[in-house]
Amino acid sequence: MPNTSLEEDNSGHVPETTEEVTGAERSRRGQPSKAGEGGKSTPETEFERVPEPTQRERQTSTSQPEGTRTSGHGGVGGAGGGAALLLGLYALLYYNFVAATRCRNAVSLRGKTVLITGGNSGIGKATAVDLARRGARVILACRDKVRGESAMYDIRRESGNSEVILMILDLGSLNSVRAFAQNFLKSEPRLDILINNAGILKDGQTADGFDRAFQVNHLGHFLLTHLLLDRLKHCAPSRIIIVSSFSHIFGKIDFHSTNKPNKWMMEGTESYFNSKLANVLHVRELAKRLKGTNVTCYAVDPGAVKTEINRSFPWWIFSSLWFMRLFVRDCDAGAQTSIYCATEEGIERLSGRYFVDCQPNVPSPQARDDQLAKKLWEFSERLLGLTA
Ligand SMILES: NC(=O)c1ccc[n+]([C@@H]2O[C@H](COP(=O)([O-])OP(=O)(O)OC[C@H]3O[C@@H](n4cnc5c(N)ncnc54)[C@H](OP(=O)(O)O)[C@@H]3O)[C@@H](O)[C@H]2O)c1
Repeated sequence: MPNTSLEEDNSGHVPETTEEVTGAERSRRGQPSKAGEGGKSTPETEFERVPEPTQRERQTSTSQPEGTRTSGHGGVGGAGGGAALLLGLYALLYYNFVAATRCRNAVSLRGKTVLITGGNSGIGKATAVDLARRGARVILACRDKVRGESAMYDIRRESGNSEVILMILDLGSLNSVRAFAQNFLKSEPRLDILINNAGILKDGQTADGFDRAFQVNHLGHFLLTHLLLDRLKHCAPSRIIIVSSFSHIFGKIDFHSTNKPNKWMMEGTESYFNSKLANVLHVRELAKRLKGTNVTCYAVDPGAVKTEINRSFPWWIFSSLWFMRLFVRDCDAGAQTSIYCATEEGIERLSGRYFVDCQPNVPSPQARDDQLAKKLWEFSERLLGLTA
């Protein structure tokens, strides 16, 4: 049965005014949304709600970090005063940049199927554990069988859900993306939530001849989304989440060079920024094209998270920046905004938006450029041979 409020919400309009944002913020804080006030949701049209929150969801995210409590001696001068000042400064930075807002809803995903790319490590794995705990059937799309299987067993154990399945997908190979989609569509009747999470920060060229970061982070996911879109529409209301990054603000899309391989580490970093900008633009244009389908999409910045994303960097870079560890969140905290966008009721009207800390945020001016988003869409289609 069609849900009229969803039809209105899913208009393709990408709202960015304070008023529009306030509704989602209200919902994030656990206050009733207009849709929630208006009536009861039906299993066909909205995600089913679980009566009681789990113990995990009752935990608070903003518990003070060890060693940051003020002792009461902070006003004493000399070394004590200096230490208190430093601790105070750290606490300030911690609460503003490290402590994550938790997704507090208790939405059940029983009967829903979630596909998450790169679900074997970092943010993707933490996201998969949470969604599996909510009862979803979770498909981990991973490139490495051994790492994927090990994660699959971990997630089954941690979530208590045996419906966590591994399927092989290498986003660095367009043939692999096509084969994966074919297998998926053959074996899985549903797709309710697609989470394009996998990412790489590495220079080099793929077998398809594209820049590695551009293909894995953007082009491969673009093709995957394209191939699975009919199934998402068939299962609507459904959602697409694309994991981007704050670093998109350093990116640029140059249609002469963005897809061309970079050859050394620093250029690889630039490619990463460009691909993360492409992620936000992809969501923006996708939301427009999905208008009226009840399929909505969201770009996510997980914050700075302690994961393996920097694995291709020389060890000495990170050893010399050891203090940065004080300012990164753990994977569970880094997964919260992906989980929020995948499950929160009433955010459909914010389709196309960029989310940080479980609330809509304003991305860089380039990431809000509708013409650029459209051009990137057509460029990606051309590179993938999707145009007639
Ligand atoms: N960590 C941060 O601070 C941070 C900040 C902003 C945004 N992000 C974004 O968060 C997302 C998740 O990254 P993470 O930080 O959790 O890093 P991660 O631990 O390195 O996870 C990345 C995942 O992507 C997978 N992957 C890499 N190349 C792939 C390919 N060709 N095909 C399929 N899967 C591939 C990896 O698989 P393997 O294990 O086989 O390599 C891994 O599962 C990325 O999109 C990243 O850009 C991270």
